[in-house]
Amino acid sequence: MKTHSTRLIIGNWKMNPQSEASAVSLYKDIARTSAKRKGVSLAIAAPFVFIPALAHSDKKKSIVLCAQDASAEPSGAHTGSISLPMLKSYGVSMVIIGHSERRAAGETDEQVEQKAKAALKAGMAAVVCVGERARDKQGDYFGFVQGQVRSVLHELPKAHLRRLTIAYEPIWAIGTGNTATPEDVQEMKLFIQKCIADSCGRAAVSQVKIIYGGSVDPENALSLLEAGNADGFLVGGASLKAAAFNRIIEISSTYATA
Ligand code: PGA
Repeated sequence: MKTHSTRLIIGNWKMNPQSEASAVSLYKDIARTSAKRKGVSLAIAAPFVFIPALAHSDKKKSIVLCAQDASAEPSGAHTGSISLPMLKSYGVSMVIIGHSERRAAGETDEQVEQKAKAALKAGMAAVVCVGERARDKQGDYFGFVQGQVRSVLHELPKAHLRRLTIAYEPIWAIGTGNTATPEDVQEMKLFIQKCIADSCGRAAVSQVKIIYGGSVDPENALSLLEAGNADGFLVGGASLKAAAFNRIIEISSTYATA
């Protein structure tokens, strides 16, 4: 199956760092060394409150601004929520949807579906996270991931597929140091591609990027690209250390352009 030559690398800062000054400094350290790497599309998912400062500090728009969530509602009485138009007004063009930490806080497949569809309809790129809590010997976790993927693809307009990315993030690998093996990643990528083909037709498969997240670091990045065939990474912990994140980007660029 066709893979994507450009790798998508997203730094998911989660609820870090703790000040605007630290956020801008980290962002600049990443932009300075890695923003122009060939073969890599680079995005940072910063906390909402830092987005205006990051947008202001990056006049060249060398890094894609990504949000960690967004409301499916366009406006109105939704205390604490942030709308897609608000994000767009700051140049945000990508949104992570359904991260397992949000699903653990109560977000349902239905809400993930609505948010992803709203983001895609608004012309944004949507990065929808899927992944099992644990693996069982019978392989029931495949059915679990299939349910999450199918729900997002349900009646999705075909024209929106090319802005959709699926991030396979097994929960047992997030922040634990227990990375999935390249074989696990390759197998799940093929499985997700089969789900896409079943729901949207074979032509849809090459339009959707399938990236991996869960304890990605400079040591495991190359094998996850080479043997895992990941279209990129969603990086949590390592994206808060400029040196480690820049190294992951460099490895991905070298691999993509080799
Ligand atoms: P991690 O987080 O790289 O720290 O495991 C990944 C994520 O949750 O997106």
